[in-house]
Amino acid sequence: MRVRPSPPSSQPPAMKKHPQNPLLLLHLFTTLIHTIQLTSAVDFVLNGFGSSDVSLYGNATLESRILTLTNDTTFSIGRALYPTRIPTKQPNSSAVLNFSTSFIFSMAPYRGRLPGHGIVFLFVPHQGIEGASSAQHLGLLNFTNNGSPNNHMFGVEFDVFENEEFQDIDNNHVGIDVNSLISVSSHEAGYWRDQNSFNRLTLNNGRNYQVWIDYVDGVVNVTMATVGMRRPNRPLLSVPINNLSQVFEDEMYVGFTASTGALIESHRILAWSFSNTNFSLSDRLITRGLPSFELPETPIHRRRGFIAGVTVGVLFFAVVCSVVAFLWIRRNRRIRKEREEMEDWELEYWPHRITYQEIESATKNFSEEYVIGIGGNGKVYKGVLPGGSEIAVKRISHENGDGVRAFLAEISSLGRLKHRNLVGLRGWCKKEKGSLILVYDYMENGSLDNRIFECDESKMLSFEERIRVLKQVASGVLYLHDGWESKVLHRDIKASNVLLDKEMNARLADFGLARMHDHDAVAGTTRVVGTVGYLAPEILSSGRASTQTDVFSYGVLILEVICGRRPIEEGKPPLVDWLWDLMRKGELLNAVDERLRARGGIDEVEAEKVLHLGLLCALPETNARPKMRHVVKLFEGKNEKDVDETEGEDMDSYLLAKMRTNEIWSMYPNIFNSGSGSGSGSGSHPTFEEIRQGLSSSMSLTWSSTIVDGPGLTGNGNGRADVETSEVRVQIL
Ligand SMILES: *[C@@H]1O[C@H](CO)[C@@H](O)[C@H](O)[C@H]1NC(C)=O
Ligand SMILES: *[C@@H]1O[C@H](CO)[C@@H](O)[C@H](O)[C@H]1NC(C)=O
Ligand SMILES: *[C@@H]1O[C@H](CO)[C@@H](O)[C@H](O)[C@H]1NC(C)=O
Ligand SMILES: *[C@@H]1O[C@H](CO)[C@@H](O)[C@H](O)[C@H]1NC(C)=O
Ligand SMILES: *[C@@H]1O[C@H](CO)[C@@H](O)[C@H](O)[C@H]1NC(C)=O
Ligand SMILES: *[C@@H]1O[C@H](CO)[C@@H](O)[C@H](O)[C@H]1NC(C)=O
Ligand SMILES: *[C@@H]1O[C@H](CO)[C@@H](O)[C@H](O)[C@H]1NC(C)=O
Ligand SMILES: *[C@@H]1O[C@H](CO)[C@@H](O)[C@H](O)[C@H]1NC(C)=O
Repeated sequence: MRVRPSPPSSQPPAMKKHPQNPLLLLHLFTTLIHTIQLTSAVDFVLNGFGSSDVSLYGNATLESRILTLTNDTTFSIGRALYPTRIPTKQPNSSAVLNFSTSFIFSMAPYRGRLPGHGIVFLFVPHQGIEGASSAQHLGLLNFTNNGSPNNHMFGVEFDVFENEEFQDIDNNHVGIDVNSLISVSSHEAGYWRDQNSFNRLTLNNGRNYQVWIDYVDGVVNVTMATVGMRRPNRPLLSVPINNLSQVFEDEMYVGFTASTGALIESHRILAWSFSNTNFSLSDRLITRGLPSFELPETPIHRRRGFIAGVTVGVLFFAVVCSVVAFLWIRRNRRIRKEREEMEDWELEYWPHRITYQEIESATKNFSEEYVIGIGGNGKVYKGVLPGGSEIAVKRISHENGDGVRAFLAEISSLGRLKHRNLVGLRGWCKKEKGSLILVYDYMENGSLDNRIFECDESKMLSFEERIRVLKQVASGVLYLHDGWESKVLHRDIKASNVLLDKEMNARLADFGLARMHDHDAVAGTTRVVGTVGYLAPEILSSGRASTQTDVFSYGVLILEVICGRRPIEEGKPPLVDWLWDLMRKGELLNAVDERLRARGGIDEVEAEKVLHLGLLCALPETNARPKMRHVVKLFEGKNEKDVDETEGEDMDSYLLAKMRTNEIWSMYPNIFNSGSGSGSGSGSHPTFEEIRQGLSSSMSLTWSSTIVDGPGLTGNGNGRADVETSEVRVQIL
């Protein structure tokens, strides 16, 4: 049995009275106040649409979270409205509320068909599509009600057909419509690069365009640009609409409508934000990794051959023709072959499939010189895309098709994850069965692992840098856990999966990758996924990962980063045990990385606090660990001195309150005492040996050695190549 550590001495007496987490209460309270203040405001950001996000009318559908207003059905109307009415005026006043909305749309023609007719962003007083006609009426109004003040309708049209009856200026324009299809004001589609140079955009070429519509004090500004571009400074349209208060009812529906006629095209909305108060909410629209609906270009071989033929002569023409025909046939055959290799479901997934040829040329045919890392999953290459941007290419070989599929299903949402502390996934490619290629942003400064363990003094991170990195990793993990529509688990948080970008910001790599192995399960067995030393005990018993197992790994990461010691090292007790020991003896600070101590300048108070936090996160008891959002809060609260808001509820008191809970202290030493007792004599933190011996036999867990990526582990002479001693080092991914 272990000795129960004596509780630290200075305890604020008030703490005992609050059994609940005060941070949580505070959070609820501030949320409440916020809601009361802004009853009339509406804010939402929809990156992709779920069935409860919009109400659909006419032939509008949702396909893979994309709002598809129309497809190739002729004379069809599609309309989608935010499900509830929203207030558009200040209470008891006729003043129209400001609003700011942004959305991403795509209009794509069908091959060989003339395209029509357009999309309208609109405010309407009622649900449904009553009073709307298709074709040139854009699903907005009809022949009889066009122009009537009873319509109470405001819209911004993106119209690709020139209707003389509506005084359209051309067949590619943006217009502001008040109760009528005859626009109050309109302009050819495009954007102003600066005050004087205009760039035309073709609305219906299938490209994704972003639109911003702002209404402030009676002026409507409409701006558009190709997706991914910065918002142009000068709006395309800036029009005073002084009578909007007569047009709007107190509450209106807001949404989109589109129509086809004899002419057809698809009209899609990919993302949408709306706010009455926050004019930068549109920043939260995800503009990367969106699917593209552009028609593939028509092959130009034949055209080129023709030109060459005419200029050089009939003979040459014939030669060129036959060469071109040959290439053409070969190309077609290859495309057909690739199509066959591609399964239907793959078409649904995002981000983009990148062609194998592109990746091949970016990495000079997967040349060995370009290898920047070798991980348990495969090699990582550096590559340069034609535009000059650098990428990291991870080539994963995998026998199991289901695993790849599960993984792709997850990255189809992961690909759109965007956070400054996550490594951006640019795309993927599947060449043949069992091999998958992932393309990520390239991270200039390698991995955290390299900056702590294997480096000379000059490259080693300082204490402050380490704290900053830990903080950034915490917000990356929080984003995965709470920041997305569905919870995403990382499952393999460790120093070698934390990369540093150009500005030395920490970015978490390989999120979700472990998922692939998760699905590897042979019937009846579960596969433990993760890395020895970072695995929470409950993973070993249940095989199930959760946000709390991620917290555990994160706790271990804190400890190793501050101590400069790997979680498990040959001939030493596991890091976590060692630290608990030191803490009991009151010598916790001795654990701080020797190389840092030699350098000096360590904030001891902070070091101790962060170590406490690490230990807390790495508690064996699942529910005793803090949630990631507490961790982030604690890190944030610590630096800012806004004590008034947190009422002195800072990291210290939180940690003390947590760590004094008797159950935690008494529970800890017991958890693993039943273990087989490793050489270190502690056994509270599972060693690889315990996992292998204890679990593979008794609990039918299998261990995937491919992902046992445990740097620093050395062979233990037990036969089986259970530990990859070959210092698996993933520098970039
Ligand atoms: C087009 O939309 C209609 C109505 O929503 C639907 O029934 C039809 O299946 C769609 N066609 C295609 C090719 O998706
Ligand atoms: C929806 O599409 C069908 C054909 O699939 C068409 O007959 C019908 O008129 C369309 N409805 C609307 C409201 O556009
Ligand atoms: C608005 O007017 C109604 C009566 O017309 C009144 O009951 C209510 O208190 C007023 N609200 C505000 C915010 O002035
Ligand atoms: C709209 O915004 C402007 C500028 O921020 C502000 O002066 C005005 O009061 C706002 N109008 C309403 C109705 O909120
Ligand atoms: C136009 O819509 C109105 C309802 O708003 C309806 O009464 C009228 O019959 C419609 N006209 C045509 C030509 O469809
Ligand atoms: C609208 O555009 C005008 C002209 O560029 C500009 O002065 C004004 O600030 C813009 N308003 C908003 C809300 O962006
Ligand atoms: C509002 O003004 C526009 C012109 O700016 C006009 O076309 C429209 O009929 C007016 N609407 C109402 C309801 O007064
Ligand atoms: C407005 O939205 C932006 C982007 O999401 C956010 O950073 C900012 O804090 C928001 N501002 C307010 C006042 O809520």
